[in-house]
Amino acid sequence: MTKLTKTPINVITSEMQELFDKHLGPGRFARTAYRLREQGSSTKPVGINVFTEDKLVGTVSLTELIIGGEHRCFLLGPLLIDENHRSKGLGLELIHDAIELAKTKDAAAVLLVGDVAYYEKAGFKQTRMGQINLPGPVDPGRLLMFEISNGAMDTIKGAAKAS
Ligand SMILES: CC(C)(COP(=O)(O)OP(=O)(O)OC[C@H]1O[C@@H](n2cnc3c(N)ncnc32)[C@H](O)[C@@H]1OP(=O)(O)O)[C@@H](O)C(=O)NCCC(=O)NCCS
Repeated sequence: MTKLTKTPINVITSEMQELFDKHLGPGRFARTAYRLREQGSSTKPVGINVFTEDKLVGTVSLTELIIGGEHRCFLLGPLLIDENHRSKGLGLELIHDAIELAKTKDAAAVLLVGDVAYYEKAGFKQTRMGQINLPGPVDPGRLLMFEISNGAMDTIKGAAKAS
């Protein structure tokens, strides 16, 4: 079995950009996470990369947000696993790692825009229509939340801004 090594993300490398280009294409720049990151004053990326001996095979990023002017949260994305390493649980493992990372940074919740059929396996739930406003077009049925602090799903609401 291939040995995998995880490293924290400190900077967006060219290898990460290549993975983003390959799987997400130029359309990614219109995505919510990119728009929020552009807004933010903090340019330091947060997340986790997974390597085989010399190749990046998975990556997950988090963008810090303030919602409703008071709730510190993280937006998860992009999450990408190389085709040759899919369906081995690595995607879910990275989601769990990202949640643990957000917990160490006193986040009340982790948000993402994605398919509930996949992310509910990691404990994400659909937010309510109009509960959270993100920049860019977001299908409300795809705006999902993982609660870290008790009752986050009820209390966190309002406009999201990168911090
Ligand atoms: C989505 C992705 C991260 C999953 O990575 P992974 O390591 O294969 O995930 P896991 O091994 O934890 O889970 C795989 C299972 O989830 C399922 N799954 C994957 N995407 C899914 C989706 N959008 N909806 C429902 N199920 C999904 C797979 O079919 C697979 O099912 P199986 O176990 O019965 O074969 C990977 O497919 C990927 O990088 N896709 C392209 C980019 C993308 O869509 N990223 C998410 C949005 S940022």
